[in-house]
Amino acid sequence: MRYLGDKARLLPFVLRTLGRGGINVGSAHDAFAGTASVSRALKAEGWRVHSSDLLMSSYVFQRAYVVADRADPSLSEMARHLSNLQPRESFISRHFSPAGGNVSEGRMYFTPANAARIDVAREELEEWKRGAKLDDDSYYLLLAAIIEGADRVANTTGVYASYMKRWQPNARRSFEVVPELPVKGSQPAKAYLLDATDAARSIGQVDLLYIDPPYNSRQYVAYYHIPEILARGWTESGPAIRGKVGLLAGEEGRSQWSHGRRVRKLFSALLSATRATYALVSFNSEGHLEPEALLSLLTKASVDGEASHFSQQYRRYRADSDREGRHYHRDIALEHLYMVRLR
Ligand SMILES: C[S@@+](CC[C@H](N)C(=O)[O-])C[C@H]1O[C@@H](n2cnc3c(N)ncnc32)[C@H](O)[C@@H]1O
Repeated sequence: MRYLGDKARLLPFVLRTLGRGGINVGSAHDAFAGTASVSRALKAEGWRVHSSDLLMSSYVFQRAYVVADRADPSLSEMARHLSNLQPRESFISRHFSPAGGNVSEGRMYFTPANAARIDVAREELEEWKRGAKLDDDSYYLLLAAIIEGADRVANTTGVYASYMKRWQPNARRSFEVVPELPVKGSQPAKAYLLDATDAARSIGQVDLLYIDPPYNSRQYVAYYHIPEILARGWTESGPAIRGKVGLLAGEEGRSQWSHGRRVRKLFSALLSATRATYALVSFNSEGHLEPEALLSLLTKASVDGEASHFSQQYRRYRADSDREGRHYHRDIALEHLYMVRLR
């Protein structure tokens, strides 16, 4: 899934940097896991991975792509069944498609046909779970596939902060549940639906802490509220939503890291809470924190007063919101990694 700040395209850079820093395969805490792309790559390299994030949608990806080790032989059959159920309108239809009429206030996130397919698939999966008809790994693999399948047919430019006013070609395709197969790991992994610093405290000693926080005022729970609703599921009344695009009403999932003035303090708290030997920090210069401020924080926490800096150019894709459609334009950005030895 396309996710702001995801590191999918930068994995070779991250792994190469660990090699250059002389950090051997061991145990890691990916503290701001997001799509779990880094956790997944570390697991494939043989690391014992702990991962955390505030969002349930991220927890689902962590469980599916990192914790799950094997796929049930009937996984594809279950996915086909979920894709081909008789569509039935429920929460997503009512609130995020024109099928909801006045209730959805004309929100055009999904066509009525896809919204009803997503609704029935999500509710059937929950029924299976309640009836103990599938194991945990299969549940999370299928739930991740529902979130990613819905994302492929979402009538957006990639984030859910707004929807397009005309149906885009991807939105007209049929919603499908296509699970990915889990990566086989040599070490068991653990996922935490928890604040990074709290997770660091409960995880204890690890070789590596990877830090990739939000650096600006975007709240991920507001940019990805529909994946989050799909991840959490709903009861009869559904979650409380508000505003023009149907954001989640509660405080759950909102991050302190998106408040510029608090980032330094939060960084220091995380670095004091962790018992990691090394910290690797992803940084881009478009956020609240100045590179000098980060460097000063890191060298203070470092055991030898030093921090190594690595950078790489990459092509970035940006949603082009000026035009109707999922157009992206490319530009060149610089991605930075800082590495420090903490003990
Ligand atoms: C830049 S993204 C991480 C991207 C990730 N490395 C990837 O490849 O997908 C930042 C993530 O931090 C999460 N986050 C924000 N505040 C957090 C906190 N206090 N503790 C843990 N995660 C948090 C957000 O939900 C978001 O998923």
